Amino acid sequence: MPVRTRVAVIGAGPAGLLLSHLLGRHGIESVVVDSRSREEIETTIRAGILEQGTVEILSETGASDRVLTAGRKHEGMELRFDGEGHRIDFAATVGRAVWLYPQHEVLKDLVAARLAAGQDLRFGVTAERVEDAETNRPRVVARDAEGGAVEIEADVVVGADGSRSVAREAVTGTYGGYFREYPFAWFGILCEAPPSAEELIYSNSPDGFALISQRGPGVQRMYFQCDPTTDPGAYGEERLWEILRSRVPGITLNEGRVFQRDVLRFRSFVAHEMRRGRVVLVGDAAHTVPPTGAKGMNLAVADVVVLTEALRALLLDGDESLFDAFPDTARKLIWKAQHFSWWMTSMLHLQPGAGDFDRMRQIGELRSVVESEAGRAYLAEGYTGRPLG
Ligand code: PHB
Repeated sequence: MPVRTRVAVIGAGPAGLLLSHLLGRHGIESVVVDSRSREEIETTIRAGILEQGTVEILSETGASDRVLTAGRKHEGMELRFDGEGHRIDFAATVGRAVWLYPQHEVLKDLVAARLAAGQDLRFGVTAERVEDAETNRPRVVARDAEGGAVEIEADVVVGADGSRSVAREAVTGTYGGYFREYPFAWFGILCEAPPSAEELIYSNSPDGFALISQRGPGVQRMYFQCDPTTDPGAYGEERLWEILRSRVPGITLNEGRVFQRDVLRFRSFVAHEMRRGRVVLVGDAAHTVPPTGAKGMNLAVADVVVLTEALRALLLDGDESLFDAFPDTARKLIWKAQHFSWWMTSMLHLQPGAGDFDRMRQIGELRSVVESEAGRAYLAEGYTGRPLG
C-alpha cells in the first residue's frame, strides 16, 4: 500500500526540511525521505554563512532559535590583495549582515523542529525514481534500509535531493542543464585554533586564492585554491600551513591541529527545467554554485520560500498560477546568484595560464570595488542578500 500525503519531499537537507517546516505552518502535510541516516545529515560539515534573509526565515518561523544565540553576526568581511586588506562594511553600505552558523547546525535545528511537530521524516529511505509526473498523483518509488519497497503518492513531489538528484531525471529527462566547470578547486581544512581575525578574509594572492573562515572559538575553517585533481592526503600539516600563510601575506594565522581536510570541486549548474507536471526541483537538485559567494544554501532557502507560496495557493486555494510561474520566478533569483558566485570566483582566483595582463586587470577590478562606495555596496548587497518572501 502506498503512503499517501500532500507533498512528498525527497531529501532532508536544508531545502527539503525547511519546505516541510513552512508547509506545516500552513497546515499542509508532507512526508520527507532521505537515503542518509540522521547522524550523517547532522554531522557532515558543509557551508557556514547565512544571509540575513535566511536567518530571518529560520528565526521568525520557529525553525531555529539557536541561529540568533549560537550564530555569530558578521557586519563586514575583508578583501585582501596586493599585500593589503580592505574591509567591506555591510552595515554601512547596505544596512544588512550575514551570520556565521554552520549548515549542519541548521539541519540539527530543522530535524528537531520537524520531529517535535510529529513530521513523517524517514531516514535511510532511498528514492529510486519518480513516476507519473504529469498526473495529479505523482509517486516516489523508494527502498528502506532493509531493502523493502516504499511508495509515496502525493499531490506534488519535490526533488530536494542535492546535486546527484534522482528526481531530476523525471523533470529534465536527459539531465540537461547549463553547466560550467572551473579549472581549480578548494582545499578545505578544519583545525583546532582560535580565530585569526574578527571577520572572514577573502584573499587574492599571486599564488592563488585563500579564504580564512571560522567555525567557533576553538575551531576554524580555511581553504586555499588548488588543482582539482589534488589528493586531500597529499600534504603534511606543515606544508598546509606554509601554503595558507603564503596566500594571506600580512596576516598572522593562528595555527593548530588539522583534523579534517577535503577537496571541493568548482561547478556552476542550472537545470534547463525545474518543473514537469507535478514534480519540481529545489536547491542543489536544480542548481549548483561554486562556494566563493556563500550562496548555495541561501539560494536553496530562496527557492523554498517561493515554492511554499506556490504550493499554498495550489493546495489550499486550487490556484495554479504561482505554481505554473514557479520556474520563472525562481530562475530570476538563481541567475543573479549564479552571476554573483561566478564574479566573486573570477575576481579572486588565479586562472591557470593567466598572464601578467590578466593578473594586473584583476587587481584593477578589486581596486574598483574596494575604492568605490558603489562598488563596496554592490558586493555587500550580493553577499548579504535581499529580503526573502
Ligand atoms: C565556510 O565557512 O565554509 C565558507 C564561508 C564562506 C564561503 C564559503 C565557505 O564563501
